[in-house]
Amino acid sequence: MILRLCQHSFHIYDLLLFSGALTILVYILLPHRFALRYDYIDKEHIEEALLSATVSNISSQQAIDCSYKEVLADSTFVYDAAHRAAILRGQEIRLGGEYQPDECRARFSTAIIVPYRDRQEQLVAFLNYMHNYLRLQQIHYRIFVVEQSDRKPFNRAMLFNIGAKVAESYGYPCLILHDVDLMPLNSGQIYACTVQPRHMSSALDSWRFHLPYRTLFGGVVAISTSQFTMINGMSNLYHGWGGEDDDLYERLKVVGIEICRFDPAYSEYTMLKHKHAIPNENRMALLRSASLRMHTDGLNSLVYKEVERRMHSLFTHILVET
Ligand code: BGC
Ligand code: MN
Repeated sequence: MILRLCQHSFHIYDLLLFSGALTILVYILLPHRFALRYDYIDKEHIEEALLSATVSNISSQQAIDCSYKEVLADSTFVYDAAHRAAILRGQEIRLGGEYQPDECRARFSTAIIVPYRDRQEQLVAFLNYMHNYLRLQQIHYRIFVVEQSDRKPFNRAMLFNIGAKVAESYGYPCLILHDVDLMPLNSGQIYACTVQPRHMSSALDSWRFHLPYRTLFGGVVAISTSQFTMINGMSNLYHGWGGEDDDLYERLKVVGIEICRFDPAYSEYTMLKHKHAIPNENRMALLRSASLRMHTDGLNSLVYKEVERRMHSLFTHILVET
């Protein structure tokens, strides 16, 4: 009897040891599979963290400010398929992809900037989804799609710089830098700026809703136009995939601006499938010199040609040669 008990406990001990070792091994080989704990703004404090600002000539007959209590109280979003037709008919969205609620005066004006090339199917899905989602947020916004027309490697950061310049010329105080393949899943992830720049897409389905590393500042981020200008925008030197978002993070670090995130329950995004782009071999070297370059490489060194600017029913299209 005693012998059998001993054998039994020895067996469990072995099993524990084995599973512990296995966990450590998986952690080393697949760090993306594990959540890092990170600071975030919880539900109760989201509203006070928002940066209230609109374009100066916002026209609204309404005298009362919109209330955001309801938008921020609920973190679930149910896509309203019935509304798709109304959006496609352009009943609510103004030419150029601009919207503002007509029941009340919006307290936030946001330029959503989307770098783009060769992803027509995703762009159509994105526009339909986003207008459907955003009209529930009671904000004033406009979607700018910045398309790279040349065949050089894709320069995501440079397209953001171009979009930011255009958005600024329209008076937008808040920029949301947005990948075309990401869609928000929670209504409470309000498309407005926070006092601190915000990493919005921190709980991505393709990473099992976990944040891979704390300084990740890519996918979807919100930053005020004045903060973006203060750090000279993003680098123009990242051709191809990777690193440009880490460079942006470095710039903020240099000037002492910390980023923030919302509660993970408010930060869920889904990623549309696509082929992996070719990584930029040079990205690590560039990243090492991020702080040295930031004052000479960015908005103040931006050279491009605007080939066309066209107002579509669901977006403003800016076609550029980089
Ligand atoms: C790249 C970033 C990218 C991140 C997540 C990093 O290694 O440098 O540009 O956003 O991985 O995919
Ligand atoms: Mn992508």
